[in-house]
Amino acid sequence: MLANKFGRTVVRLRCCNAVPLCGVSQRHMGRYRSGWAVVCQQRTLWLQMNVAERTKQTAVHRQLSTRTSHQTTVDPDELKRFRSLASKWWDENGEFRALHSMNDLRVPFIRDNLLNVHKAHHPGKPLAGLRVLDVGCGGGLLTEPLGRLGASVLGIDPVEDSIGTAQLHLSYDPDLGERVGYRACTLEELSADAAGGETDRGDVLFDAIVASEVVEHLADLETFAICCSHVLKPGGSLFITTINKTNLSYALAIVAAEQLMRIVPRGTHDWEKFISPVDLERRLESNGFSVQSVQGMMYNPASGGWSWINSTAINYALHAVKLAEEPNSDSKMGNPENSTASHS
Ligand SMILES: C[S@@+](CC[C@H](N)C(=O)[O-])C[C@H]1O[C@@H](n2cnc3c(N)ncnc32)[C@H](O)[C@@H]1O
Repeated sequence: MLANKFGRTVVRLRCCNAVPLCGVSQRHMGRYRSGWAVVCQQRTLWLQMNVAERTKQTAVHRQLSTRTSHQTTVDPDELKRFRSLASKWWDENGEFRALHSMNDLRVPFIRDNLLNVHKAHHPGKPLAGLRVLDVGCGGGLLTEPLGRLGASVLGIDPVEDSIGTAQLHLSYDPDLGERVGYRACTLEELSADAAGGETDRGDVLFDAIVASEVVEHLADLETFAICCSHVLKPGGSLFITTINKTNLSYALAIVAAEQLMRIVPRGTHDWEKFISPVDLERRLESNGFSVQSVQGMMYNPASGGWSWINSTAINYALHAVKLAEEPNSDSKMGNPENSTASHS
């Protein structure tokens, strides 16, 4: 654990070198500095414009939350955006092409970390016997390969049309259909079902939860962390991939990827919802998780591929484990006093 923390500290220190990692040479630094100033200026302006709007939204949100006993992870604008793209999931050259190629990193990341804990007994199906929940599965781009590794996977997403696309694609591989299933719902709905069901809780809990490129689209990260803890077995793994909250991530994930290169549709990301590995780790640890590893990732638009890098300044993958004992024996869910909105 100490070694892990030390390793991560080194990685964070190296983040300071994130700009040279992006291939900007010294010769171009002069031009880069003025370009960088524009990016920072643009982000400041954008933030100022959003302050008024967010203050209004927070007031409305507060009114709503006094009326509802449960927080929700759902941001309706996000669902609307993903609904409009629901038929595009399996187009390898379309809007989700970066997610297709991300499988080259995230599938082995999940597999290898799970195999460190659970020894494989089934050649060719190393994850056989494990129950995995893929939260925000979209069209099933990650759900299917995890099923092919032998895991029983449930993919959930609140966008029904995306679940329809995932089910249609799954139907082309009947063998896989025995291990993979989908449900149009939120994590909080699943968590409530698990808590309220008459079956033994052990039957409904998961060995692992995957939320890949999802937390940056949620309305409330605290509710997400609480619900993950509810539906995960003690000792179970949580895998998250997401985007750090840095100037560099603003420049690359929003200005370059959305506005200049159109790798993903404009408006896909809200920088305010990005989260640093340190903040995510703090949030998870306060909900009974222990973070085991954090690794930086980078997308190369020229090759369309991803690679692991030392810096976590842009994208990163995180693996956490649920500790055996929950921090509070009284459930946090359903008590708004205990639940703080993460992006207010
Ligand atoms: C960028 S996509 C990632 C899809 C999938 N995880 C992958 O990597 O291929 C984000 C997904 O999160 C889903 N999503 C948005 N809000 C959500 C919420 N509150 N709970 C669960 N999923 C959500 C969206 O519908 C969308 O499918």
